[in-house]
Amino acid sequence: MGRMEIVYGVLVVLHLIGWAMVLGGALAGLRSATLTPGAFHGILTALVTGIVLVGLASSGVAGHEPNNVKVAVKLVVALVVTGLVVVARRRPEVVTSGYLGGVAGLTALNVAIAVLWR
Ligand code: HEM
Repeated sequence: MGRMEIVYGVLVVLHLIGWAMVLGGALAGLRSATLTPGAFHGILTALVTGIVLVGLASSGVAGHEPNNVKVAVKLVVALVVTGLVVVARRRPEVVTSGYLGGVAGLTALNVAIAVLWR
């Protein structure tokens, strides 16, 4: 494995941990209708690593080109999740279990898009 492939792999690991923090945070807070602050850092991690991964894959490091349509759809969904997480952080009073269900559902949707869209 080349050095850049290791870098790419580490970024994929961080990418997965990032959105797992969002999904876990949303589910853990369902009962109390609160979103853990870790979800904010998680979605930023997923966004930033995702964008860097697209750049690296476009330059040939991953051994395959990114699917730009798939990535664009994932980016839009991730930006909506980011908006929800930012609002939840600024105005905790608007957070309901339905709101957190939306965060968890959209995150799960992006996992499905990432894995099933080939
Ligand atoms: C909540 C948001 C997101 C979730 C749940 C998510 C989920 C995933 C998952 C499960 C994988 C591994 C799938 C695989 O390797 O086949 C993955 C890989 C990847 N994601 Fe995301 N992602 C999110 C946001 C983003 C964003 C915003 C971008 C870019 C703008 C992005 C770009 C990528 C790239 C480039 C890979 C590596 C694909 C490869 O090398 O084949 N992701 N993501």
